[in-house]
Amino acid sequence: MQQQQSSSNNADGSLHAQWSGRFIFILAAVGSAVGLGNIWKFPYVSGENGGGAFILLYLLAIFLVGIPVLVAEVLLGRRAQRSPINAMRHYVTTHKLWPLWQVIGWFGVVAGFLILSFYGVIAGWALAYFFRALSGAFVALDAESTGKLFGAFIADPEKVLLWHTLFMALTVLIVARGVKTGLEQAVRIMMPLLYLILIALLVVAVQSGHFMDGVRFLFAFDWQAVTAQSVLAALGLAFFSLSLGMGAMMMYGSYLNKTAPLVQSSVIIAVADLSVSILAGLVLFPLVFAYGLNPGAGPSLVFITLPVAFGQMPWGELVGALFFLLLSFAALTSAISLLEPLVAFLSENRHLPRLSASIWSGVLIWLFGLLTVFSFNLLATVTWLGRTIFDWIDFLTSNIMLPLGGLLIAIFVAYVLPKKISQEELSTAPFIFAIFWFLLRFVAPVGVFLVFAYGLWDALVPKAAA
Ligand code: PHE
Repeated sequence: MQQQQSSSNNADGSLHAQWSGRFIFILAAVGSAVGLGNIWKFPYVSGENGGGAFILLYLLAIFLVGIPVLVAEVLLGRRAQRSPINAMRHYVTTHKLWPLWQVIGWFGVVAGFLILSFYGVIAGWALAYFFRALSGAFVALDAESTGKLFGAFIADPEKVLLWHTLFMALTVLIVARGVKTGLEQAVRIMMPLLYLILIALLVVAVQSGHFMDGVRFLFAFDWQAVTAQSVLAALGLAFFSLSLGMGAMMMYGSYLNKTAPLVQSSVIIAVADLSVSILAGLVLFPLVFAYGLNPGAGPSLVFITLPVAFGQMPWGELVGALFFLLLSFAALTSAISLLEPLVAFLSENRHLPRLSASIWSGVLIWLFGLLTVFSFNLLATVTWLGRTIFDWIDFLTSNIMLPLGGLLIAIFVAYVLPKKISQEELSTAPFIFAIFWFLLRFVAPVGVFLVFAYGLWDALVPKAAA
């Protein structure tokens, strides 16, 4: 049927390249999923929400909502073998559906553009901190001094810009080289290194003498700590962490061959993503406790709290550098998945060569990223309802666009497309399909709607009152 093997772009946008195999698809999808969300956001959000109770909620969010939506997204991409915008256009024309459903594709590309614009800046901080750690910049500092160091860094637009530019250039370079020589090579090299570094850091954490404190913090279930807020934080983070709702997984699914089992692959991706989050927590918290620091420090946990530990431990330069290298690798394999849907679309439809499509998209996203760079210095006073421009871009994408995109995807697959398509694509045991169908039809939309409604409410209400 749709078994095209060509690696070039057809004029109707019908097929691009394919992954060399299912394993590479899984590796790339895990690369997309594992990112700042796991190593930067997950530890501080679970720290803020009391640890153990939050993790249980997070597990439920991943398994009951995340995996069904992930399967739906990959299914849509694989079936259409096109980038998200063209995939949705294809469904609308072949099944004579309401044209507005194409919004799923457009929405995703816009969300990817916006997320990458700030993701690149934060990843740039990680790159800078790799060199700082290596050069011993944190030796013997206390939390106040590392705070000052970080404050001075983000207040300097020239410095931040340099690292942001470097990170975006690396992202463009990889994407420009295409699926096989760009994305595949990148994940083949970076993902194994990422796991190796994580294990090396785990050894350091185990030897810190406070490993069990970290374990207890992460896994002690305290029901008292569960609030409506933490339920929604767990769901939102699951979404961001699995790269759902903006077409990245749809894009990667479109490069997948027709025989790969989707449910099984999605479960592997989600479990791999989850394991990196938990391992990151098991690395971070023992170090935080070993040096008497505060686990609930919020977004600055990684850039202010952790450097204190690196500055005091033996071999801290090396351990710190490894940690920020881990963060940079994780961010880079996610950034390429944020850029790919736009580049693939431009090269499918507009007949732009991939190289120009990558450079143009990269330059525009880089330019837009200046708003985030300046949100911490020149434009720091430009706020609305208590949020800087960066806060707004982050909110709009993570709390509104991704959940909304995910909600639409779940509804589209579960209620709009013929059920037969999902059955054919998944070709799994009837019992497994029934579970998937139930979760996608009933559980996921309700869960995602809650995150979405909360995102809107949180964006508009509390800060206004504050
Ligand atoms: N999953 C990535 C992370 O955890 C972020 C991301 C979101 C990447 C959406 C692609 C799409 O950092």
